[in-house]
Formats: sequence, C-alpha cells, structure tokens
Amino acid sequence: MRFILLGEPGAGKGTYSAVLIQKFNIPQISTGDILRASVKAGTPLGLEAQGYMKRGELVPDSVVIGLVKERLKQADCRTGFILDGFPRTVAQAETLAAIMQEMGLQVDGVLKIEVSRGTLMQRLTGRRVCKACGAGYNVNTGLPTKVPGVCDKCGGEVIQRADDQPATIENRLNVYTRDTAPLIEFYEKRGMLRRIPCEGPLDEVLSRVEKVAREVSKK
Ligand code: AP5
Repeated sequence: MRFILLGEPGAGKGTYSAVLIQKFNIPQISTGDILRASVKAGTPLGLEAQGYMKRGELVPDSVVIGLVKERLKQADCRTGFILDGFPRTVAQAETLAAIMQEMGLQVDGVLKIEVSRGTLMQRLTGRRVCKACGAGYNVNTGLPTKVPGVCDKCGGEVIQRADDQPATIENRLNVYTRDTAPLIEFYEKRGMLRRIPCEGPLDEVLSRVEKVAREVSKK
C-alpha cells in the first residue's frame, strides 16, 4: 500500500497517518517530522530548514527531495508507505513519479483531506504537542491534556508549535494555495485523487479515511 495524504496545514494528515500506519503496518514518511527532528538535533539540514519553517515557507525542493529519496530506499518501505506532507509542489510530485518508476513501484492513490478554512484555523490554533515525546493534543477540538500544559503520556511540557502562531498560519495557508493546491489537478488528471470529507468527530473521520484507503489499495 502506497499512499499520499494531501491537505492544507492542520487538515489532519499527521493524525490520520498515525492511525493508518498501525492498521496497514507500513511506515509514515512525514517530511515535517523529519525536518523538525533535524532542527531539534541542530544538524546542517536542520540549520538550513529552520528559517523557512519558522516563516511558514517551504524548504527548497532540492533539500526535501533528497531526504525523501533516501528514506524511500530504506528496507521498511518495501511493503509500502504513507507520505504525509510530501509532495508539496509540482516539482516534488514529478520527482516522486520518477523515483517510483526507477524503483518499479507505483503510488496507489492520493487521499485529499477536505475541511473548511474555519475548521483548519480551529485545529491549528488549538494544537499542542509534547516537547519530550511528541504526543499531540488539541485544546479546541476536545483533545486536551488532563492537566493543562502537562503531557498525559510522559509528564513532559506541552507546547504550541512555533509555526502555529496566527501570522505564520496565514502564511502557511497562502503558501499551500500557491504551491501545493496545483497538485489537486496534477493528481486528478492522472486519476489518482480521492477527496475525503474530514469534518466531524475524530473516530468517524478516521473510519472514513481508512475505508477509502482500503478501496484505493484494492484497485
Ligand atoms: P508539516 O509538519 O507537514 O506541516 P503542515 O502540512 O502545515 O501540516 P500540519 O502538521 O500543520 O497539519 P496536519 O495536516 O498534519 O494536521 P494534524 O494531524 O496535526 O510541515 C511543517 C513545515 O515543514 C512546512 O511549513 C515547511 O516549512 C516544511 N516542509 C514539510 N514538508 C515539506 C515539503 N514537502 N517541502 C517543503 N517544505 C516542507 O491535525 C491538526 C490538529 O487537528 C491536531 O491537533 C489534531 O489532533 C486535530 N484534529 C485533526 N482531525 C481532527 C478531528 N476530526 N477532530 C478533532 N480534532 C482533529
């Protein structure tokens, strides 16, 4: 099973991928997570990426494509993968198609997460993450920590992501419209896109996403 989860910042890509990888026993490849880990570790990649991420801009294609290419070659990707946050530009999508062809593989489908702008804002401004273990919470959507600011799982400090401040959110949404939204047409033309309405309670949305993922993989 090989999927791409496509959607605006805060649509729910990370949340739904985390569940799908358990169901299908395949890895999640999140370029955002890889980049954030590099920033935290202070690697050369992290140092290059952090300014772009703080401003809500895309990290250059040359950087991101290289790291995805390396990741896809790893043994755990042989049985499949979920791409979360990649591709994000037409150039990234074209390169991914070339990599897949080189590897003799194909992506089963692109799951497009559909939510309103209001829901995106609510999800993004309410999102909190544990600094220590990465567990996710949301103070706006009914997923808060039991004790404010303290992770239920590890007791670590729960914070707001640096790029979830209102001004940066606005920039991320504009960048999505300019650079990433053209991928909808790109994949629609290739008959690969499935739109999934993702408003509503998490358990209902998750079963909808899982159902479409299963249908797509049986094609
Ligand atoms: P990245 O981390 O990929 O950020 P993003 O695409 O902006 O997406 P988010 O992580 O903000 O949202 P999500 O869709 O995963 O939503 P989530 O599941 O958390 O990228 C960060 C940065 O890295 C980019 O800005 C860029 O600089 C760089 N980058 C990354 N990839 C790149 C690439 N390919 N090329 C260039 N640069 C790149 O959900 C949001 C919240 O909503 C959560 O709190 C969740 O619990 C909640 N929620 C979701 N669904 C529901 C529901 N149904 N009910 C209740 N709550 C819900």
